[in-house]
Amino acid sequence: MALAPISIGIQTRLTAGIALVASLLVLAVGWYWTTHEEAELMAGLRQREARMAGLIERGFAGPIWNLDHVAIENLLDAVMADPEVHAIELKGLGLRGGQARRVRDNPAVGSLRREFAITYQPAADTAGTQVASAVLTFTRYLVDEQISRTRFFVVELLAVVVIGIVIASSLLVQWLVRRPVLKLGALAQRVAKGDLGAQETVERGDEIGELTMRFNAMSLKLRSAADQVQLSSAGLRASEARYRSLFENATEGVFQADADARVLSMNRTFTQMLGLGSQNPVGRRLAELTGIDRHEMQRVAAVMNEQGKIQQCQLQLRGAAGRPLWVELNAHWVEGESGQRRIEGMVSDISLRRQAEAELTRHRDHLEELVNERTAELSEAKLRAESANQAKGRFLATMSHEFRTPLNAILGFTQLMQMDAAIPAGQQAKLQLMRDSGLHLLELINDVLDMASIEAGKVSLKPASVDLRALVDMACDSVRLRAEQKGLAFWLDIDARLPTQVIADGQRLRQVLLNLLSNAVKFTDSGSVQLDARVVELDATHTRLRFEVSDTGIGMTPAQQARLFQAFEQVSDASRHLGGTGLGLSISQQLVRLMGSQILVQSTAGHGSSFVFELRLALA
Ligand SMILES: Nc1ncnc2c1ncn2[C@@H]1O[C@H](COP(=O)(O)OP(=O)(O)OP(=O)(O)O)[C@@H](O)[C@H]1O
Ligand SMILES: [Mg+2]
Repeated sequence: MALAPISIGIQTRLTAGIALVASLLVLAVGWYWTTHEEAELMAGLRQREARMAGLIERGFAGPIWNLDHVAIENLLDAVMADPEVHAIELKGLGLRGGQARRVRDNPAVGSLRREFAITYQPAADTAGTQVASAVLTFTRYLVDEQISRTRFFVVELLAVVVIGIVIASSLLVQWLVRRPVLKLGALAQRVAKGDLGAQETVERGDEIGELTMRFNAMSLKLRSAADQVQLSSAGLRASEARYRSLFENATEGVFQADADARVLSMNRTFTQMLGLGSQNPVGRRLAELTGIDRHEMQRVAAVMNEQGKIQQCQLQLRGAAGRPLWVELNAHWVEGESGQRRIEGMVSDISLRRQAEAELTRHRDHLEELVNERTAELSEAKLRAESANQAKGRFLATMSHEFRTPLNAILGFTQLMQMDAAIPAGQQAKLQLMRDSGLHLLELINDVLDMASIEAGKVSLKPASVDLRALVDMACDSVRLRAEQKGLAFWLDIDARLPTQVIADGQRLRQVLLNLLSNAVKFTDSGSVQLDARVVELDATHTRLRFEVSDTGIGMTPAQQARLFQAFEQVSDASRHLGGTGLGLSISQQLVRLMGSQILVQSTAGHGSSFVFELRLALA
């Protein structure tokens, strides 16, 4: 049986302590006091005894010398009247029977005995004569009584002091210590029971007051700490719930395993992937759950141990029902807080992807076959097209040439016949028509031939020194007449800095300008046609020229402009009535490209057009 420790209250201990100290003090003082008093009383006793002895010596000498026995008896009685005298005994010849004595009945206590001689001296200057010897016995009885009283007083005092001190200290301790300590205890109990922040009134400015203040502060601190703990634990719970939700609802399988590959946790997706149903995977081996091939497992373990992680590792697993499934594994080692290592991993079901990849590979193989087939077909077709194109070019060139020869003969003879004065005026008009048609046909054939040559890549520029002004003038002259016939104003604006001699293929440049100018005149019914030739740059060796042919004619819509430079394209309906083949612009663009530039167009339907190109030419 365990003994309960005896609990003695602080008040009792303090009171007992103070009482003990006070008692010891009073005892020490009492002891000192009684000892001192005893010494003093004893000294007084001795003095009185000595005095009494003196008195006896002087008082008895005469009566003994004179044998006055009555006086002696009276003196003896007088001596015995002193209560401290226990006995007196005189011996001498002058005494009745040689001695006289008086003794009290009660026994002497701690007696003081003094023996002395009684000497009679009749005169001051004579020698004394011993008449008797005396033995005086004093008793300490009264002294002892006095000491006892003092001791009793000391004991009483001690009792009073002790009781007073006990009561006073008890009250003081109760007031100063016990009550506030009990209050603090109650406060501590309230705090312990959960009343965090509970406070006690500070009544005094002493240590207990200080302690109360500290207690109050501690209680407040505890409350704020508890509040914080509550807050952070609420936050922790929320974040735990978030992470759990993330973990459980992740579309990927997520797991944690210990160093022996035993499952610590596994999310729903992974258990579903493995078809575990309601089985608890925790504590089971990953190899057993996933049905992974032993060699594969060893391979994964080797990579993990070597690199600390494994990434995008494709594995074939077997679910609960032996169902095969392909997954992609990403896993790594994680050091736990306690120093234990664990594996954290993520698994994606790639069965469908693998299937799709296999399908894709099949398709790709098939596609490659198809592409190879098509490529072969296409290159064959390309070869055919190229040879057809070449054949077309050759055909056009030959045919144009073949057309031109007889046509030149027709034109020549028509001209000769026109010169014949014998031919009447009516026939002359027909001849003129023949000639115009022939010239038009020649123009057409020339265009077709040009186009064919350009497409066949057979046209090359023949740069030579050219008189630019003369060239521009010549181009203008060819169309000016037609412009005037249509009632159009014709403007030629040539930059004064235009160099006269440049290196260029003059014939081709004139052909381009002529094409643009004749289009401008052809597609303009009122207003004007203008050619601007500007110098954009000019240095010692080269010049950059800007040619612009603008008109106020029918213009074109943006859609028409988009088709503008294609061969045989006549973009507006009006142009079809105005004749032509739709080759002019196409040929011109190809030629300007050969010259290292291109023709740009700006046009607004109904308001006119502007064709611009720039050429960089060497100075001759
Ligand atoms: N200045 C212009 N204003 C309006 N339309 C134009 C102008 N220049 C060209 N076009 C349009 O562009 C088309 C193509 O011009 P291009 O010079 O190639 O052929 P064409 O003049 O019709 O025939 P060709 O020049 O072969 O005799 C023209 O049919 C016409 O519709
Ligand atoms: Mg034209």
